[in-house]
Amino acid sequence: MKLKHILTTKQFLEKKLLNEIFNIADNFEKTEKKNKTPKILKDKILSCLFYEPSTRTRFSFESAMLKLGGQVISTENAAHFSSAAKGETLEDSIRVVSFYCDVIVLRHPEIGAAKRAAKVSLVPIINAGDGSGEHPTQALLDLYTIKKEIGRTSDLKIGMVGDLLYGRTIHSLIYLLSLYQNIEIFLVSPKKLKLPEKYKLFLKKHKIKFSESDNFESIISKVDVLYITRIQKERFQSLKAYKKVKNSFILSKTLLNKANKKTIIMHPLPRVNEISQEIDPDNRAAYFRQAQNGLYIRMALLRLLFEKNKIFSHNN
Ligand code: CP
Repeated sequence: MKLKHILTTKQFLEKKLLNEIFNIADNFEKTEKKNKTPKILKDKILSCLFYEPSTRTRFSFESAMLKLGGQVISTENAAHFSSAAKGETLEDSIRVVSFYCDVIVLRHPEIGAAKRAAKVSLVPIINAGDGSGEHPTQALLDLYTIKKEIGRTSDLKIGMVGDLLYGRTIHSLIYLLSLYQNIEIFLVSPKKLKLPEKYKLFLKKHKIKFSESDNFESIISKVDVLYITRIQKERFQSLKAYKKVKNSFILSKTLLNKANKKTIIMHPLPRVNEISQEIDPDNRAAYFRQAQNGLYIRMALLRLLFEKNKIFSHNN
């Protein structure tokens, strides 16, 4: 088998490839609704190795594999229920698990873990989140959601709100947005959780207009997409530091009244307090549809990963 890992959205900076993924995802949504998805991965096994908690990413990958006729072997708490608990290195675990399956979906708390895993794995590695690094499959489903909800991926004003320092979904999405024309990004975060310099340099290099502030209210009426993220308690060294910023931005119904009637609200989920539940019935709340899109995008990625002649380039 040819190795074709998914480590970063930098591998997807090709509109043709993205359109192909989105078309396949559209098609899987249709076949799923008719209960007619072809079982094209009957002889394949997917392994989920998650060293951090997950609801959407793990379940949607497992569901995607099962719907395509494949099988799944997983540990949802690899830090405790794999031999990592006895001191085994990530590399040794990956070497061994790659004997038993055809693709590994890896979530790990350290930046670069997926890349390290890819160096020793006999099968493709899919980065399901490497600490505060990247979450490429999430960004693909995010872009797909924007396309489905708004009907375009260019000429967009996007508010990115919350934890931009550790927010791996934001990091991955920024790379993808560089493909499109006339994108303006409004970065809103507490001062201590600003977007890392490397991503700002990337935005500058690709001439993407952006601004930074800690004033959530001031951007609400300006954007087509409000992409809200959780302040991630697990990334803080101290509880005190987390408590200082945890409720920095909360989208309430009153605040949402200031938004355009066509603005969509996105969130990779899980949410804590940052989007009030009273907003859920509003049609602009796209975050659950976004999570559902994750299933079709991951089905499309698995199909492409196992199809001959579909090679993801390695620019990372
Ligand atoms: N969006 C996302 O990665 O969710 P999970 O942490 O539940 O997988």
